[in-house]
Amino acid sequence: MPTSYWKIPLFDLDYGEEEIEAATQVLRSRWLSMGPQVEAFEKEFATAMGVRHAIAVSSASSALYLSLLAVGARDGAEVVQPAMNFVAAANMTRAVRAVPIFADILSLEEPTISPEEIRRKITAKTKAVVVMHYAGYPCRMAEISAICREHQISLIEDACHAIGAQYQDSQKRFPHGRFVGGCSDVACFSFYSNKNLAVGEGGMILTDRGDLVEPLKRMRCHGMTQFVWDRHAGADYYDIVSEGFNFRFDEVRAAMGRIQLRKLPEKNKRRALLAHHYQERLSQQDRFKVAYRNYSGDSAYHLMSLIASSQEERALLVQQLKSAGVQTTLHYPCVSDLTAFSDGDSDETPVSRDFGRGVVVVPLFPGLTVEQVDWICDLICSTPRSTL
Ligand SMILES: Cc1ncc(COP(=O)(O)O)c(C=O)c1O
Repeated sequence: MPTSYWKIPLFDLDYGEEEIEAATQVLRSRWLSMGPQVEAFEKEFATAMGVRHAIAVSSASSALYLSLLAVGARDGAEVVQPAMNFVAAANMTRAVRAVPIFADILSLEEPTISPEEIRRKITAKTKAVVVMHYAGYPCRMAEISAICREHQISLIEDACHAIGAQYQDSQKRFPHGRFVGGCSDVACFSFYSNKNLAVGEGGMILTDRGDLVEPLKRMRCHGMTQFVWDRHAGADYYDIVSEGFNFRFDEVRAAMGRIQLRKLPEKNKRRALLAHHYQERLSQQDRFKVAYRNYSGDSAYHLMSLIASSQEERALLVQQLKSAGVQTTLHYPCVSDLTAFSDGDSDETPVSRDFGRGVVVVPLFPGLTVEQVDWICDLICSTPRSTL
Protein backbone atom coordinates (compact mmCIF):
# COMPACT_ATOMS: atom_id res chain seq x y z
CA MET A 1 0.00 0.00 0.00
CA PRO A 2 1.67 3.34 -0.97
CA THR A 3 2.11 5.79 1.95
CA SER A 4 -0.17 8.26 0.12
CA TYR A 5 -3.08 5.83 0.55
CA TRP A 6 -3.21 6.79 4.22
CA LYS A 7 -4.41 10.12 5.59
CA ILE A 8 -2.03 9.45 8.48
CA PRO A 9 0.69 6.84 7.93
CA LEU A 10 2.22 4.84 10.76
CA PHE A 11 5.57 6.55 10.38
CA ASP A 12 7.11 9.09 8.06
CA LEU A 13 10.72 9.72 7.13
CA ASP A 14 12.16 12.83 8.67
CA TYR A 15 15.16 14.10 6.76
CA GLY A 16 15.90 17.26 4.82
CA GLU A 17 18.48 19.18 2.83
CA GLU A 18 21.33 18.36 5.24
CA GLU A 19 21.02 14.62 4.68
CA ILE A 20 20.65 15.14 0.91
CA GLU A 21 23.77 17.32 0.88
CA ALA A 22 25.75 14.80 2.99
CA ALA A 23 24.78 11.93 0.67
CA THR A 24 25.64 14.04 -2.41
CA GLN A 25 29.09 14.87 -1.04
CA VAL A 26 29.82 11.17 -0.61
CA LEU A 27 28.80 10.51 -4.22
CA ARG A 28 31.15 13.29 -5.33
CA SER A 29 33.99 11.79 -3.24
CA ARG A 30 33.87 8.61 -5.39
CA TRP A 31 34.29 6.24 -2.38
CA LEU A 32 31.09 4.38 -1.50
CA SER A 33 31.94 1.30 0.55
CA MET A 34 33.13 1.36 4.17
CA GLY A 35 35.55 4.25 4.72
CA PRO A 36 36.00 7.55 6.58
CA GLN A 37 32.27 8.35 6.92
CA VAL A 38 31.62 4.97 8.54
CA GLU A 39 34.56 5.48 10.91
CA ALA A 40 33.34 8.96 11.86
CA PHE A 41 29.76 7.69 12.36
CA GLU A 42 31.04 4.92 14.64
CA LYS A 43 33.06 7.36 16.74
CA GLU A 44 30.22 9.87 17.04
CA PHE A 45 27.69 7.14 17.85
CA ALA A 46 29.89 5.67 20.60
CA THR A 47 30.47 9.13 22.09
CA ALA A 48 26.77 10.05 21.97
CA MET A 49 25.81 6.84 23.79
CA GLY A 50 28.72 6.97 26.26
CA VAL A 51 30.08 3.57 25.20
CA ARG A 52 33.69 2.83 24.22
CA HIS A 53 33.28 1.01 20.89
CA ALA A 54 30.82 1.13 18.00
CA ILE A 55 30.89 -1.17 14.97
CA ALA A 56 28.61 -0.29 12.06
CA VAL A 57 27.02 -3.20 10.22
CA SER A 58 24.46 -3.86 7.49
CA SER A 59 21.44 -4.33 9.79
CA ALA A 60 20.41 -5.06 13.37
CA SER A 61 19.84 -8.67 12.34
CA SER A 62 23.50 -9.00 11.30
CA ALA A 63 24.43 -7.16 14.53
CA LEU A 64 22.54 -9.78 16.56
CA TYR A 65 24.08 -12.61 14.55
CA LEU A 66 27.64 -11.35 15.10
CA SER A 67 26.95 -10.59 18.77
CA LEU A 68 25.75 -14.13 19.46
CA LEU A 69 28.87 -15.53 17.78
CA ALA A 70 31.16 -13.08 19.58
CA VAL A 71 29.92 -14.09 23.05
CA GLY A 72 30.00 -17.79 22.14
CA ALA A 73 26.23 -18.34 22.22
CA ARG A 74 26.12 -20.93 19.42
CA ASP A 75 25.95 -24.61 18.51
CA GLY A 76 23.41 -26.02 20.96
CA ALA A 77 23.64 -23.22 23.53
CA GLU A 78 20.38 -21.84 24.91
CA VAL A 79 19.59 -18.14 24.52
CA VAL A 80 16.85 -16.78 26.80
CA GLN A 81 14.85 -14.00 25.11
CA PRO A 82 11.41 -12.37 25.23
CA ALA A 83 8.48 -14.11 23.56
CA MET A 84 7.22 -10.60 22.73
CA ASN A 85 9.78 -9.45 20.19
CA PHE A 86 10.40 -8.94 16.52
CA VAL A 87 11.48 -12.30 15.10
CA ALA A 88 15.08 -11.21 14.34
CA ALA A 89 16.60 -12.36 17.68
CA ALA A 90 14.92 -15.78 17.43
CA ASN A 91 15.90 -16.20 13.77
CA MET A 92 19.51 -15.20 14.44
CA THR A 93 19.66 -17.57 17.43
CA ARG A 94 18.67 -20.41 15.13
CA ALA A 95 21.10 -19.17 12.45
CA VAL A 96 24.02 -19.71 14.87
CA ARG A 97 22.55 -23.16 15.64
CA ALA A 98 21.62 -22.15 19.18
CA VAL A 99 18.18 -22.65 20.76
CA PRO A 100 15.84 -19.74 21.56
CA ILE A 101 14.18 -20.12 24.98
CA PHE A 102 11.21 -17.78 25.32
CA ALA A 103 10.56 -15.92 28.55
CA ASP A 104 7.38 -13.98 29.29
CA ILE A 105 6.99 -10.20 29.60
CA LEU A 106 6.17 -8.40 32.85
CA SER A 107 2.62 -7.28 31.99
CA LEU A 108 0.45 -5.86 29.20
CA GLU A 109 1.34 -2.36 30.46
CA GLU A 110 5.10 -3.05 30.73
CA PRO A 111 5.75 -5.50 27.90
CA THR A 112 9.47 -6.10 28.43
CA ILE A 113 11.09 -9.33 29.59
CA SER A 114 10.46 -10.28 33.22
CA PRO A 115 13.64 -10.71 35.30
CA GLU A 116 11.95 -13.49 37.30
CA GLU A 117 11.11 -15.31 34.06
CA ILE A 118 14.74 -15.05 32.97
CA ARG A 119 15.79 -16.67 36.23
CA ARG A 120 13.24 -19.46 35.70
CA LYS A 121 14.44 -20.23 32.16
CA ILE A 122 18.19 -20.33 32.83
CA THR A 123 19.74 -23.84 32.65
CA ALA A 124 23.27 -25.22 32.53
CA LYS A 125 23.11 -24.75 28.72
CA THR A 126 22.24 -21.01 28.84
CA LYS A 127 24.99 -18.91 27.27
CA ALA A 128 23.24 -15.59 26.78
CA VAL A 129 20.16 -13.51 27.50
CA VAL A 130 18.78 -11.16 24.83
CA VAL A 131 16.53 -8.35 26.05
CA MET A 132 14.47 -5.96 23.91
CA HIS A 133 13.45 -2.48 25.04
CA TYR A 134 9.94 -2.61 23.59
CA ALA A 135 8.62 0.67 22.14
CA GLY A 136 11.72 2.49 23.41
CA TYR A 137 11.18 1.90 27.17
CA PRO A 138 14.23 0.34 28.85
CA CYS A 139 13.94 -3.12 30.40
CA ARG A 140 14.67 -3.59 34.11
CA MET A 141 18.39 -3.68 33.41
CA ALA A 142 19.72 -3.45 36.96
CA GLU A 143 17.99 -6.70 37.94
CA ILE A 144 18.70 -8.38 34.61
CA SER A 145 22.41 -7.58 34.55
CA ALA A 146 22.72 -8.82 38.16
CA ILE A 147 21.12 -12.15 37.14
CA CYS A 148 23.51 -12.47 34.18
CA ARG A 149 26.53 -11.70 36.34
CA GLU A 150 25.41 -14.20 38.98
CA HIS A 151 25.08 -16.97 36.35
CA GLN A 152 28.10 -15.81 34.32
CA ILE A 153 26.13 -15.54 31.10
CA SER A 154 26.34 -12.83 28.46
CA LEU A 155 23.79 -10.06 28.12
CA ILE A 156 22.82 -8.76 24.67
CA GLU A 157 20.53 -5.76 24.21
CA ASP A 158 18.26 -5.56 21.18
CA ALA A 159 18.08 -1.76 21.41
CA CYS A 160 16.39 -1.21 18.03
CA HIS A 161 13.45 0.69 19.56
CA ALA A 162 15.34 2.57 22.23
CA ILE A 163 18.07 4.68 20.65
CA GLY A 164 18.77 7.67 22.89
CA ALA A 165 16.69 6.44 25.87
CA GLN A 166 18.30 6.47 29.31
CA TYR A 167 18.12 3.71 31.90
CA GLN A 168 16.18 4.46 35.01
CA ASP A 169 16.87 2.79 38.32
CA SER A 170 15.34 3.89 41.60
CA GLN A 171 18.38 2.59 43.49
CA LYS A 172 20.72 4.56 41.21
CA ARG A 173 22.84 1.52 40.38
CA PHE A 174 23.70 3.08 37.01
CA PRO A 175 25.82 6.15 36.58
CA HIS A 176 23.57 9.13 35.93
CA GLY A 177 22.52 9.45 32.32
CA ARG A 178 23.50 5.98 31.21
CA PHE A 179 22.10 5.53 27.72
CA VAL A 180 20.56 2.31 26.45
CA GLY A 181 23.36 0.23 24.95
CA GLY A 182 25.79 0.81 27.81
CA CYS A 183 24.72 -1.85 30.27
CA SER A 184 25.45 -5.15 28.55
CA ASP A 185 28.16 -7.11 26.76
CA VAL A 186 26.83 -5.93 23.39
CA ALA A 187 23.91 -3.82 22.19
CA CYS A 188 22.38 -3.89 18.71
CA PHE A 189 20.67 -1.00 16.90
CA SER A 190 18.78 -0.75 13.61
CA PHE A 191 18.62 2.15 11.15
CA TYR A 192 15.73 0.64 9.16
CA SER A 193 13.31 3.23 7.71
CA ASN A 194 10.78 3.20 10.56
CA LYS A 195 13.38 3.67 13.32
CA ASN A 196 14.07 6.88 15.30
CA LEU A 197 17.39 7.15 13.43
CA ALA A 198 16.61 6.00 9.90
CA VAL A 199 18.75 5.70 6.78
CA GLY A 200 16.88 2.91 4.99
CA GLU A 201 18.87 -0.09 6.22
CA GLY A 202 21.81 -0.48 8.58
CA GLY A 203 22.81 -1.31 12.12
CA MET A 204 25.31 -0.67 14.91
CA ILE A 205 26.89 -2.77 17.64
CA LEU A 206 27.95 -1.04 20.86
CA THR A 207 30.29 -2.60 23.40
CA ASP A 208 32.54 -1.59 26.26
CA ARG A 209 34.38 -4.90 25.93
CA GLY A 210 37.65 -4.29 24.12
CA ASP A 211 38.16 -8.05 23.63
CA LEU A 212 35.10 -8.25 21.36
CA VAL A 213 36.01 -5.41 19.00
CA GLU A 214 38.51 -7.13 16.70
CA PRO A 215 36.51 -10.38 16.38
CA LEU A 216 33.36 -8.38 15.56
CA LYS A 217 35.15 -6.20 12.99
CA ARG A 218 36.80 -9.21 11.40
CA MET A 219 33.58 -11.21 11.14
CA ARG A 220 31.85 -8.17 9.62
CA CYS A 221 34.29 -8.41 6.70
CA HIS A 222 34.99 -12.05 5.74
CA GLY A 223 37.34 -12.75 8.69
CA MET A 224 39.99 -10.49 7.09
CA THR A 225 42.94 -8.98 8.92
CA GLN A 226 42.96 -5.90 6.65
CA PHE A 227 39.77 -4.15 5.74
CA VAL A 228 38.67 -2.62 2.45
CA TRP A 229 39.53 0.95 3.42
CA ASP A 230 42.97 -0.14 4.78
CA ARG A 231 43.74 -1.73 1.44
CA HIS A 232 42.58 1.34 -0.44
CA ALA A 233 44.92 3.34 1.83
CA GLY A 234 47.90 1.16 0.83
CA ALA A 235 47.89 -2.16 2.76
CA ASP A 236 48.86 -4.81 0.16
CA TYR A 237 48.27 -8.06 2.03
CA TYR A 238 45.50 -9.69 4.00
CA ASP A 239 44.94 -12.97 5.79
CA ILE A 240 41.69 -14.70 6.77
CA VAL A 241 41.84 -15.67 10.43
CA SER A 242 38.25 -16.50 11.41
CA GLU A 243 34.81 -17.20 10.04
CA GLY A 244 33.39 -14.12 8.36
CA PHE A 245 30.62 -12.56 6.32
CA ASN A 246 29.89 -9.40 4.40
CA PHE A 247 27.91 -7.36 6.93
CA ARG A 248 29.54 -4.04 6.03
CA PHE A 249 27.87 -0.64 6.21
CA ASP A 250 28.49 2.04 3.55
CA GLU A 251 29.50 5.66 3.15
CA VAL A 252 26.24 7.21 1.87
CA ARG A 253 24.20 5.85 4.74
CA ALA A 254 26.91 6.66 7.30
CA ALA A 255 26.97 10.29 6.11
CA MET A 256 23.16 10.49 6.45
CA GLY A 257 23.33 8.70 9.81
CA ARG A 258 25.76 11.30 11.20
CA ILE A 259 23.21 14.05 10.49
CA GLN A 260 20.33 11.99 11.88
CA LEU A 261 22.35 11.32 15.04
CA ARG A 262 22.75 15.05 15.64
CA LYS A 263 19.00 15.54 15.25
CA LEU A 264 18.07 12.57 17.44
CA PRO A 265 17.64 14.34 20.85
CA GLU A 266 15.24 16.91 19.33
CA LYS A 267 13.29 14.27 17.46
CA ASN A 268 12.99 12.04 20.55
CA LYS A 269 11.76 15.09 22.51
CA ARG A 270 9.04 15.65 19.91
CA ARG A 271 8.06 11.97 20.10
CA ALA A 272 7.84 12.32 23.91
CA LEU A 273 5.45 15.25 23.64
CA LEU A 274 3.18 13.36 21.24
CA ALA A 275 3.30 10.13 23.27
CA HIS A 276 2.37 11.98 26.48
CA HIS A 277 -0.50 13.66 24.66
CA TYR A 278 -1.77 10.27 23.45
CA GLN A 279 -1.49 8.91 27.00
CA GLU A 280 -3.36 11.82 28.52
CA ARG A 281 -6.15 11.67 25.94
CA LEU A 282 -6.47 7.88 26.16
CA SER A 283 -6.64 7.93 29.96
CA GLN A 284 -10.25 9.09 29.41
CA GLN A 285 -11.17 5.57 28.27
CA ASP A 286 -10.54 2.11 29.70
CA ARG A 287 -11.63 -0.10 26.82
CA PHE A 288 -8.11 -0.38 25.36
CA LYS A 289 -5.06 -0.65 27.60
CA VAL A 290 -2.23 1.75 26.80
CA ALA A 291 1.30 0.33 27.10
CA TYR A 292 3.49 2.23 29.60
CA ARG A 293 0.63 4.47 30.74
CA ASN A 294 2.13 4.72 34.23
CA TYR A 295 5.82 4.37 33.34
CA SER A 296 7.92 6.97 35.12
CA GLY A 297 11.28 6.43 33.40
CA ASP A 298 12.83 7.71 30.20
CA SER A 299 12.02 6.36 26.73
CA ALA A 300 12.87 6.87 23.06
CA TYR A 301 9.09 6.80 22.40
CA HIS A 302 9.44 4.63 19.34
CA LEU A 303 5.93 3.14 19.34
CA MET A 304 2.48 3.96 20.66
CA SER A 305 0.81 0.63 21.48
CA LEU A 306 -2.76 -0.12 22.58
CA ILE A 307 -3.87 -3.55 23.70
CA ALA A 308 -7.39 -4.80 22.99
CA SER A 309 -8.89 -7.43 25.28
CA SER A 310 -9.55 -9.92 22.45
CA GLN A 311 -8.84 -10.48 18.77
CA GLU A 312 -12.43 -9.37 18.00
CA GLU A 313 -11.92 -6.08 19.85
CA ARG A 314 -8.61 -5.64 18.07
CA ALA A 315 -10.28 -6.11 14.66
CA LEU A 316 -12.91 -3.46 15.51
CA LEU A 317 -10.24 -0.91 16.43
CA VAL A 318 -8.12 -1.63 13.35
CA GLN A 319 -11.20 -1.34 11.10
CA GLN A 320 -12.30 1.92 12.76
CA LEU A 321 -8.88 3.52 12.12
CA LYS A 322 -8.41 2.02 8.67
CA SER A 323 -11.77 3.29 7.41
CA ALA A 324 -10.76 6.80 8.49
CA GLY A 325 -7.40 6.48 6.69
CA VAL A 326 -5.19 5.91 9.75
CA GLN A 327 -2.57 3.22 9.33
CA THR A 328 -1.92 0.74 12.16
CA THR A 329 0.29 -2.31 12.55
CA LEU A 330 0.95 -5.32 14.74
CA HIS A 331 4.19 -5.14 16.78
CA TYR A 332 4.37 -8.07 17.36
CA PRO A 333 2.75 -11.47 17.27
CA CYS A 334 4.11 -13.57 20.15
CA VAL A 335 7.10 -15.40 18.60
CA SER A 336 5.90 -18.84 19.70
CA ASP A 337 2.54 -18.14 17.97
CA LEU A 338 4.41 -17.97 14.61
CA THR A 339 4.38 -21.02 12.33
CA ALA A 340 8.18 -21.25 12.14
CA PHE A 341 8.35 -21.35 15.95
CA SER A 342 5.24 -23.40 16.59
CA ASP A 343 7.35 -26.07 18.31
CA GLY A 344 7.29 -23.47 21.11
CA ASP A 345 4.17 -23.21 23.25
CA SER A 346 2.62 -19.76 23.53
CA ASP A 347 0.69 -20.98 26.63
CA GLU A 348 4.12 -21.05 28.34
CA THR A 349 4.25 -17.25 27.92
CA PRO A 350 0.60 -16.23 28.38
CA VAL A 351 1.16 -12.50 28.83
CA SER A 352 3.16 -12.28 25.58
CA ARG A 353 0.49 -14.36 23.83
CA ASP A 354 -2.32 -12.04 25.00
CA PHE A 355 -0.28 -8.94 24.15
CA GLY A 356 0.43 -10.28 20.63
CA ARG A 357 -3.22 -11.11 20.01
CA GLY A 358 -4.46 -7.71 21.17
CA VAL A 359 -1.80 -5.16 20.24
CA VAL A 360 -2.50 -2.30 17.81
CA VAL A 361 0.29 0.18 17.06
CA VAL A 362 -0.93 3.64 16.03
CA PRO A 363 1.01 6.46 14.27
CA LEU A 364 3.89 8.09 16.17
CA PHE A 365 6.61 10.09 14.38
CA PRO A 366 8.09 13.57 14.85
CA GLY A 367 6.12 15.12 11.96
CA LEU A 368 2.74 14.14 13.44
CA THR A 369 0.74 17.08 14.82
CA VAL A 370 -1.05 17.34 18.19
CA GLU A 371 -4.29 17.90 16.25
CA GLN A 372 -3.76 14.64 14.39
CA VAL A 373 -3.18 12.84 17.70
CA ASP A 374 -6.44 14.35 19.00
CA TRP A 375 -8.28 13.13 15.91
CA ILE A 376 -6.83 9.61 16.21
CA CYS A 377 -7.80 9.54 19.92
CA ASP A 378 -11.37 10.65 19.05
CA LEU A 379 -11.55 7.78 16.58
CA ILE A 380 -10.20 5.28 19.14
CA CYS A 381 -12.67 6.45 21.80
CA SER A 382 -15.62 6.12 19.40
CA THR A 383 -14.77 2.61 18.13
CA PRO A 384 -18.09 0.78 17.60
CA ARG A 385 -18.80 -2.10 19.96
CA SER A 386 -19.73 -4.41 17.10
CA THR A 387 -19.92 -4.30 13.31
CA LEU A 388 -23.66 -5.15 13.30
C1 LIG B 1 13.10 -5.05 17.92
C2 LIG B 1 13.77 -5.28 16.60
N1 LIG B 1 14.80 -6.13 16.54
C3 LIG B 1 15.46 -6.35 15.38
C4 LIG B 1 15.08 -5.74 14.22
C5 LIG B 1 15.80 -6.04 12.95
O1 LIG B 1 16.39 -4.90 12.42
P1 LIG B 1 16.97 -4.89 10.93
O2 LIG B 1 15.80 -4.72 10.02
O3 LIG B 1 17.90 -3.70 10.91
O4 LIG B 1 17.68 -6.17 10.73
C6 LIG B 1 14.01 -4.85 14.23
C7 LIG B 1 13.59 -4.18 12.99
O5 LIG B 1 12.51 -3.84 12.68
C8 LIG B 1 13.33 -4.61 15.46
O6 LIG B 1 12.29 -3.75 15.54
